[in-house]
Amino acid sequence: MIALSLAEIAAVVGGQTHDIPDPSVRVTGPVVRDSREVVPGSLFAAFVGERVDGHDYARAVTEAGAVAVLASRPVGVPAIVVEDVQTALGALARHVVRRLGATLVALTGSAGKTSTKDLIAQVLQRKAPTVFTPGSLNNEIGLPLTALSATEETRFLVLEMGARGIGHIRYLTGLTPPRIGLVLNVGTAHIGEFGGREQIAQAKGELVEALPAAEEGGTAILNADDPLVRAMASRTKAKVVLFGESAEADVRAENVRLTDSGQPSFRLHTPSGASDLTMRLYGEHHVSNALAAAAVAHELGMSAEEIATALSEAGSLSRWRMEVTERPDGVTIVNDAYNANPESMRAALRALAAMGRGRRTWAVLGKMAELGDEALAEHDAVGRLAVRLNVSKLVAVGGIEASWLQLGAYNEGSWGEESVHVSDAQAAIDLLRSELRPGDVVLVKASRSVGLESVAQALVESGAEGEVAAR
Ligand SMILES: Nc1ncnc2c1ncn2[C@@H]1O[C@H](COP(=O)(O)OP(=O)(O)OP(=O)(O)O)[C@@H](O)[C@H]1O
Ligand SMILES: [Mg+2]
Repeated sequence: MIALSLAEIAAVVGGQTHDIPDPSVRVTGPVVRDSREVVPGSLFAAFVGERVDGHDYARAVTEAGAVAVLASRPVGVPAIVVEDVQTALGALARHVVRRLGATLVALTGSAGKTSTKDLIAQVLQRKAPTVFTPGSLNNEIGLPLTALSATEETRFLVLEMGARGIGHIRYLTGLTPPRIGLVLNVGTAHIGEFGGREQIAQAKGELVEALPAAEEGGTAILNADDPLVRAMASRTKAKVVLFGESAEADVRAENVRLTDSGQPSFRLHTPSGASDLTMRLYGEHHVSNALAAAAVAHELGMSAEEIATALSEAGSLSRWRMEVTERPDGVTIVNDAYNANPESMRAALRALAAMGRGRRTWAVLGKMAELGDEALAEHDAVGRLAVRLNVSKLVAVGGIEASWLQLGAYNEGSWGEESVHVSDAQAAIDLLRSELRPGDVVLVKASRSVGLESVAQALVESGAEGEVAAR
């Protein structure tokens, strides 16, 4: 964080200082909510959770070097006491980003926020110091904590914004007002909670409504291939930049193909030049993510060549997203178990098909959560797509949704041993351990709540055991 005295912080958040002998002492370290992340100079934000109360750690964090606690009651050690810690954190973030000389880039969408945010960060980092959301900390607490981790050197601040309802993005943009706002897609993620795609578009579009006007540098970067996102152009005063595969996009891809290893390759066109690249990441869905990142970078003054080089070298910074492991016995495990929705299931299956040309392919799939009324149809469609893409074996894991997946495959023409339904992760592990042969490619994917990463991990490890046994 930029160094601020406790007196300044108290004034910004409208708090009372308690047990503070010297209010001119400055917070120099990060603001953290997890006591294990405290380092000397930190400010510790004490939240009251369902199981733990941060206030109970006040003494421990002070001993670990925290300068003070941002708390909702006095705690017997230096504290700034406020009515509501979340609101105070937001006010502090707003104050700090106003003082920073950094350009704020915010992005939202139904799928691919973290993947794209990691790409943007890896591209912008080549130009100037960049701070970005770690993992998926994209809510009303993670966002201000990320913003507060910026320092005087930070030139770009890249923030993932998540929405589970109307007004959420508006709240987040109020804390950290972006100059550049990017909307990736409007899919079906959390559709059950929202009530429908139109509502999701309404909520995500709050990002472009919050941007400054074009004359003040406001830029809305919108997906030209997604009609609901493209339509957001009418909701902003900012300049509009389109990305996508359609010809009218300002930043677009040409000659898109997947290499035999499942990595996208294409020619990147920007308004000021073009360049060819092959990505290190797997799956065609990353073309859209890469174009979005390219549009941001181009807007911030990078050339097509610089962007293409950065994108071709960018790796996966967040775990369990198309994480590819080659086992010593020649089995390839693709762990995409972080999450799933219909769009990402389709993208992952297409990547599996590309990687599996001439090889036996397995799709180990579980439920896609939060689909509301569309759940049955969407699981059925994914099961059918697996057959259409010629996936050799479908293993549907879990309860009723898994049986819809399997039935979809069955009805599309996959019968007998080509598709099976197993009750849980352990059953899937047992089946695969006995069935996998050298050369097979296995995709593992389901919604977060299913926890299928345990299957991917077990398969990766059983390959290592195999190697030891073979020696
Ligand atoms: N452009 C895309 N279209 C569809 N699916 C995608 C896209 N990019 C990534 N995915 C897939 O979506 C899943 C989630 O990816 P990611 O974590 O990047 O998204 P997110 O929007 O940050 O998710 P969350 O809402 O959980 O924060 C992954 O399985 C990934 O493979
Ligand atoms: Mg995310």
